[in-house]
Amino acid sequence: MPPESSEPPTTTSDTLEIVEAAADVHQQDLIKLCDHAIINDGNAIGFLPWGAYTDACNHNRLFSLLRNSDRVGFLLWSSNPLREIRILQIWIRSDARLIEHGRALIEHLQNAHARKLRSWQLRAWVAEDLAANLFWPQVGFLRTGWRWGRAQRGRRHNLWCKPLTAAMSPPSPPPDVQRPAQLDLATAPPSPHH
Ligand SMILES: CC(C)(COP(=O)(O)OP(=O)(O)OC[C@H]1O[C@@H](n2cnc3c(N)ncnc32)[C@H](O)[C@@H]1OP(=O)(O)O)[C@@H](O)C(=O)NCCC(=O)NCCS
Repeated sequence: MPPESSEPPTTTSDTLEIVEAAADVHQQDLIKLCDHAIINDGNAIGFLPWGAYTDACNHNRLFSLLRNSDRVGFLLWSSNPLREIRILQIWIRSDARLIEHGRALIEHLQNAHARKLRSWQLRAWVAEDLAANLFWPQVGFLRTGWRWGRAQRGRRHNLWCKPLTAAMSPPSPPPDVQRPAQLDLATAPPSPHH
């Protein structure tokens, strides 16, 4: 299991905390925030079937970000059999945007969940008329394709991907750790502590 909460870095004295929905003691507040997001920004984040957030809580696919205990946003994700992580919804309250909250959500997804699942890629479909298309490249995503959305909307959707393979590989240990120098106990000088 990923940590139930984590503290993203902040450059101010404010506290940032990420809380996994599965362990959220105020889960109802989170669901309310998700409903609020759909009502106000459904055009951007898309509409989900009834019960999707509760289901995501149960399957640990949803987490939110609190700034000084104030819930400012959330991220809903899933993974597929190819070990890709799909970002289904990311949303930050309109009065809390452009101060690195979205980035903190992506970093948590990467560091806690993608690492755990050994995922090699994060991906997100984004309607091309959204300002959010300016967010994805800033947090390391590349536009790798597009497709038409539903016929009645006539919108194209960009596919934004962030490859993780290199980042997911464990760093190679420094040479002295990898191949410790052989110590000949017979000739080694006595330890100064004995
Ligand atoms: C998209 C969204 C999640 C971004 O969250 P955010 O907290 O505002 O983003 P951040 O502050 O973490 O931004 C990270 C980087 O992206 C840039 N960025 C984010 N939104 C941007 C915008 N609208 N225009 C230009 N740049 C933007 C920031 O300037 C920052 O760049 P920097 O680190 O180089 O300075 C947020 O705007 C949102 O919830 N929008 C409405 C819902 C939505 O569109 N969701 C995505 C649908 S796919």
